[in-house]
Amino acid sequence: MSLYVCGDTHGSLDIHKLTAKLFPDREMTKDDYVLICGDCGAVWDCGSSDAYMRRWFQSKRWTALFVDGNHENHDALDQFPVTEWMGGKVHRICNSVIHLMRGQVYDIDGHTLFTMGGASSHDMLYRKEGVTWWSRELPSSEEYAEALRNLSARQNRVDYVITHCVGSRTQAMIDPTYKTDALTEFLDQIEEMDFGHWYFGHYHVDRDLDEKHSALYDRVIKLW
Ligand SMILES: [Fe+2]
Repeated sequence: MSLYVCGDTHGSLDIHKLTAKLFPDREMTKDDYVLICGDCGAVWDCGSSDAYMRRWFQSKRWTALFVDGNHENHDALDQFPVTEWMGGKVHRICNSVIHLMRGQVYDIDGHTLFTMGGASSHDMLYRKEGVTWWSRELPSSEEYAEALRNLSARQNRVDYVITHCVGSRTQAMIDPTYKTDALTEFLDQIEEMDFGHWYFGHYHVDRDLDEKHSALYDRVIKLW
């Protein structure tokens, strides 16, 4: 079993980063995972785009996991039944695509992952509520509380943190003018936890900010 992480795919727009060329010398199976750090776009129009993306993922020799970003159809995501997978709550979008929900801790192949999707959209001028933008892009108070409960049950220690945006202080390392919000403030608290490494998308850059924080966009990194 292996797990790779990558940045936003935005439906078919940026899916080219996951071409077969990346996995040349090993036989992957559906028990191998590629985890997209938000803005997956596999649940978007509840129509032809979604059907295309699910066929695309189905044709791969691996299973796609994703945390939600801001550019997802959050209302549609919320309609999927909640099931359990590897110790945390998920939405199973199809056989080959699994949504890792907010505030969950998963135990995958002996590694613990904490996930907290969501982010603020900064292109609101061009978006329409319920069509290309959803208020659920930011977590609810219940989701924040559940995150803290689940971390506390693990003695506030995980191997990996996987999110779309990051804490206010961390995103300032990318650009000090980035706006903060309730989620980036909450993620500042998560910085106090004992974690091994934090991977995130959203900022559309490939940069290791320090030895514990990596922004992902085009690169794909194998965690194990
Ligand atoms: Fe994005």
